[in-house]
Amino acid sequence: MSDARVEHLTTSGVFTLDGGSWEVDNNVWLVGDDEEVVVVDAPHDAEAILAAVDGRRVVAVLCTHGHNDHVNAAPAVADATGAPILLHPDDRVLWDMTHSDRAPDGELADGRTVKVGGTELTVLHTPGHAPGAVCLYAPELGVLFSGDTLFQGGPGATGRSYSDFPTIVDSIRSRLLTLPEETVVNTGHGDSTTIGAEAPHLQEWLDRGR
Ligand SMILES: [Fe+2]
Repeated sequence: MSDARVEHLTTSGVFTLDGGSWEVDNNVWLVGDDEEVVVVDAPHDAEAILAAVDGRRVVAVLCTHGHNDHVNAAPAVADATGAPILLHPDDRVLWDMTHSDRAPDGELADGRTVKVGGTELTVLHTPGHAPGAVCLYAPELGVLFSGDTLFQGGPGATGRSYSDFPTIVDSIRSRLLTLPEETVVNTGHGDSTTIGAEAPHLQEWLDRGR
């Protein structure tokens, strides 16, 4: 019997891409137990993330994608804890815009599993918002960490460089809407949702094209 649970904090900072900057609040998700955790995204504020970790062993920093607002505090969290930073290789181009002097430590390849606190997360490669965007599925917890691929209300943004709307819709349709409908979707920004709440709106997203 696993004691694994999900913990949450938000941090605030700036998202930068294509020469623009936007103030953003990012979700940070911790999965684990009293002994060890993984950190899903490390945005903006390493001190706040380390306070939430509270001395537990950090198995890994898992980056849902390489946009600066999801990875800008990852090296500081890794350096303070000894944890490896894991990112899908297709997002190295985005990672390098923020951390040209520091590579990730490993790859979040599709199908890879990460064990923590007696439970397991599986990597689902879901390109579209970013080429190396991934979701992390924890079937025993009934939870998906969707990064910026799926939000309450639809797909993540695809209007900027390295994004593609048909690709994100394919990812959501084939990899996410096939999960149990009661699956809780913990997103990269804003409120959580469920697969069952979002699935009926697929055609609306296609019709509006974003
Ligand atoms: Fe993003």
